[in-house]
Amino acid sequence: MAGNRTLAIIKPDALGSGKAGKIIAHLEAQGFKIICARVIHMTMAEAGAFYEVHRGRPFYAELVEFMSSGPCMPMVLQKDDAVAAYRTAIGATDPAEAAQGTVRKLYAESKGRNAVHGSDSDENARVEGTFFFGVAALV
Ligand code: CMP
Repeated sequence: MAGNRTLAIIKPDALGSGKAGKIIAHLEAQGFKIICARVIHMTMAEAGAFYEVHRGRPFYAELVEFMSSGPCMPMVLQKDDAVAAYRTAIGATDPAEAAQGTVRKLYAESKGRNAVHGSDSDENARVEGTFFFGVAALV
């Protein structure tokens, strides 16, 4: 059975340009409930650890640099089938390919500066939620 939580991040581009409120309102209107939230300015080591799964890929260094360039806003969101529902709500990684009305189509600048992150599986939602919120992400 699909889980009902996912880990979302409003990335430094969107938080820094004042889009967090609109993105949260957009998600709440689609039925997502905020379970945990914080604002954190990650070090490069923290961003590198969060994106460890991408280490070795050509965009890894740029991704770590960007995600540690300013504050971001991780959130645990709750909704039925949360991982899939959230990925549908945010759209494709590259805003040029994202469907109309999705968060990335509305608010992302580019594939790298793409406004939001979302877990890609229930297992990663638990791992990523715990990364930022410890056990509070699970209870
Ligand atoms: P995110 O959902 O946070 O997961 C990994 C991130 O790497 C992705 O969003 C993009 O912002 C970033 N990224 C940068 N370049 C690429 C690329 N060429 N392919 C995939 N992801 C990329």
